[in-house]
Amino acid sequence: MGFTADWLSLREPADLAARNADLLARAAACVPADAVVLDLGSGTGSTARAFAAMGHDALRWRFLDNDATLLAVARQTHPGAECVQGDLGAVEDLPLQGVGLVTASALLDLMPLPWVAALAGRLRAAAIPFYGALSYDGHMGWTPAHGEDAAVTARFNAHQRGNKGIGAALGPDSGAQSARVFAAEGFEVTLADSPWVIGPDQAALHAALLEGIAAAATEAGHATADVWLAARRASVAQSQAEIGHSDLLALPPS
Ligand SMILES: C[S@@+](CC[C@H](N)C(=O)[O-])C[C@H]1O[C@@H](n2cnc3c(N)ncnc32)[C@H](O)[C@@H]1O
Repeated sequence: MGFTADWLSLREPADLAARNADLLARAAACVPADAVVLDLGSGTGSTARAFAAMGHDALRWRFLDNDATLLAVARQTHPGAECVQGDLGAVEDLPLQGVGLVTASALLDLMPLPWVAALAGRLRAAAIPFYGALSYDGHMGWTPAHGEDAAVTARFNAHQRGNKGIGAALGPDSGAQSARVFAAEGFEVTLADSPWVIGPDQAALHAALLEGIAAAATEAGHATADVWLAARRASVAQSQAEIGHSDLLALPPS
């Protein structure tokens, strides 16, 4: 499955506004002065920019992604960062040398449970904290409401549980399941809500999001998602969407 730099750029302000500031600050505080932050599924480096925007602009980053196009943008935007092109599937191969914090944003919902369990086990063995932000939590709501919102959401959620590359994705369960798995490894886990709140001033993001939701819902079997899409698109300038996410911080046992 592919993500374009345009889509990641469109969603970045909403992501930044949604992130739980306390969890991000606590994650940044974990990083020893000479350590590297490894960002899994980095895309163009949005996580690093979020840390910088919240005052943590002196961190050393290692970006890991399998998309060469996104990494090229990351390399240009963050010349000081290490960029590693590779697949996340093999957790035992993650480049943890010199790493003081592992991060991921908008990634856990794409990953299967065994992958998260393997990650938690590897990070526990290495005593490295984990910050996983912006995992979709299955809740979508609009004001004003449309009669098909709940049915489209249900189909979209079913689609989110499909295979996104390395096995059936956790999708809407990713925050709660990841919290459970890290806690079982002895991590001290904090989970916090980080919803997108998209108003009429974010019409481009809202429209692109609606397209993606309708396409996924259609693929998952909703017969009239196109009708819902047309109605929702027509009212973007008068409506607000709330899309649920959660942020997770897992601190290893000492
Ligand atoms: C939703 S995007 C999030 C990107 C970035 N973290 C952000 O918040 O803008 C998911 C990212 O994970 C990467 N990704 C997904 N599956 C991957 C895999 N198996 N190996 C490496 N990267 C992967 C994609 O290429 C994409 O950049």
